[in-house]
This record gives sequence, structure tokens and C-alpha cells, in this order.
Amino acid sequence: MTQENIEKVLAELNALDCKTEKEVEQARVRFLGKKGEITALFEEFRSVDGDQKRLFGRPLNELKQKAVARIEELKAGVQDGGAEESKEDLSMPGQQYELGSRHPVSIVRQQIVDIFRKFGYDVAEGPEIEDDYHVFEALNFPPNHPARDMQDTFFVSAGHLNPLLLRTHTSSVQVRSMESMPLPIRVICPGRVFRNEAISARAHCIFHQVEGLYVDENVTFADLKQAILLFAREMFGADAQIRMRPSFFPFTEPSAEVDVSCNICHGKGCNICKGTGWLEIMGCGMVDPNVLEASGIDSKKYSGFAFGMGIERIAMLKWQVNDLRHYFENDLRFLHEFESATEV
Ligand code: PHE
Repeated sequence: MTQENIEKVLAELNALDCKTEKEVEQARVRFLGKKGEITALFEEFRSVDGDQKRLFGRPLNELKQKAVARIEELKAGVQDGGAEESKEDLSMPGQQYELGSRHPVSIVRQQIVDIFRKFGYDVAEGPEIEDDYHVFEALNFPPNHPARDMQDTFFVSAGHLNPLLLRTHTSSVQVRSMESMPLPIRVICPGRVFRNEAISARAHCIFHQVEGLYVDENVTFADLKQAILLFAREMFGADAQIRMRPSFFPFTEPSAEVDVSCNICHGKGCNICKGTGWLEIMGCGMVDPNVLEASGIDSKKYSGFAFGMGIERIAMLKWQVNDLRHYFENDLRFLHEFESATEV
């Protein structure tokens, strides 16, 4: 053991530069730990001769005290310095992850589907790119008949006997159901449909429908009326009333438009129902015998009813949204309005 040994360790201690608590702890172990440099000097001290002990005892004890003090000093330094250097405000709340919510059209589609499921209807789906036969011909629209003008169509391939087109209604799925399902048939057909319309607050070239079909023996207009009344009460409230106005569709005879009593003013008249107390919600009718026969169903034995509604329209009435375009623009300020309506 020499004086230089002790001074060297002291110089090392003074030169220490720690930036983190971990480094301070490493320094403590290096000098004062069980195998540390100062501990080793004390071990060495045990074996020095008596008179030498006097020479080194004091400086060694002082070295140890200085080491302890230096480590404390370094520890305080990293703690203060740490807080000073950190640019983060550790008390700030964490970043929020924005959860998405279901689109209002999906919410209403699910509500409509759930209501008809309760009535015993199955859900059927079909292609969005359809052929002319399933969208028009099988539904009693003869080729070149002016009734086709009711639904302005996007054609995918023209000039063909049975051209491909974007379906203008999901009645095409009803045709496919009649072709393939055993009788009696009870289906609803939710889906996206396409019409060549100028986009405005009240019309869009893409929208969604739920259409329904019931074919069995002895199905009557009274059954249709009852099914729609029950639906309206589930959808718009137990006090909802319906009324039917005569209408025309090539695939139903007789045909009707259905109005539901205005759920805002309860029939008194307001700007949503334009003062009439009624809101139009769907088209319906008894399936034309020609339509049953086209799909191979005996129209003498069987009869049926069909109805079809626009999902956006029902959603507009439910939430008093006055512009159809909101449903397609994916503006988060609009979509967030429906976060709490996701209970279905
Ligand atoms: N398919 C019709 C439409 O899209 C709606 C409808 C369906 C009307 C079934 C009557 C019966 O406009």
C-alpha cells in the first residue's frame, strides 16, 4: 500500500461524472462495493505492519468518508439534473386512442335486420354487379319498357342480350331467393344499390336498401299491412301509425307507398314532415303473378308480398339528418355524433 494508491483512487472519485442514477450506483459499487477499490484498500491495510498502519489509517478513513460524500453528491446531482433536463411533462395525461364507431347506415341496417329476424325472416345477399335479367326482366320489366326509366341504371356492359349492370335495387336478391329457396320464403335483402342520379341533399348515386319478400299459400294484403305496421312500431315507437297510398311498381300488384306518422310532431305537422304529419318510408305490394311464374313458382297456389326501403332515408328520419350526402363524406364530426347510438 502506498500514498499514491490512495491519491489515485481519490482522483478517480473526483473525476467521476454520472448522468443517471444507474451510473451513480455503478460508481458506488466500483469504489465501495464488496469488491470495490476502497474495500480492497481496507483489505490490504489489514496486512500492513504496525507502524505503517498509523501512516495509512487516517488517509484511508478519510478516503472512505470522501467517497461516501462524493457518491451522495453525485446522486443529488442526477436527481436535480434529471428533472431539469427532462423536456417531458410527466404529469400530462396519456395520448388518447380514438376508437371508431359504427356508421349510422350500419346501425340502422342492423336494427332493420334485427326486427325482421324476430319476425322469422332470413337474410339473403346477392351480387352488386348483376345481370339485366335479375334486376329487370324477371321482375316484370319487359325489354325497352318505359318503367325501366324509374331507375336510371349504370351499365357495365351494354349492347348485350342480358347486359351486366350495377343493381338499382336489391329486388334482384329476392329473385335469386325465389329461384333457389324452398317455399315458403321469408327473406330480407340488405345491400348497396346504384342509380345514375345527380347527387343532391335528397338523392345519391349510391345508397342502401333493405327489401323483404314473403311467399306462401294464402298471403294477403292484410298480412303485408300487419308486417309493416309491426315494423314501424319497432322502428319508430309503439305509437307509430302507418298509411298506404296507391302506387305503381312493375313487380307488385297492387302496389303502395307507405307513410309513417311523423315521429317529431306526432302528426301535428312540422318542417320535417312538411306540415303533413306523415313521412314516406317505403314501397310495397303484392308480388305480381308474372314475377312468381318467372322464378318457377305456381302463382295459382302461392302468393306473396314484397317491400323495399332506403336505409339512409330511415336513418335521416330517425336522426333528423337533412342532407343525404353526410352519409358518404366520412366527416368525423358527423360520424362521432353516432357513437352513443351503437347499442344495437
Ligand atoms: N324495388 C323498389 C325500389 O327500389 C322497392 C320495392 C320493393 C317496392 C318491393 C315494392 C316492393 O324502389
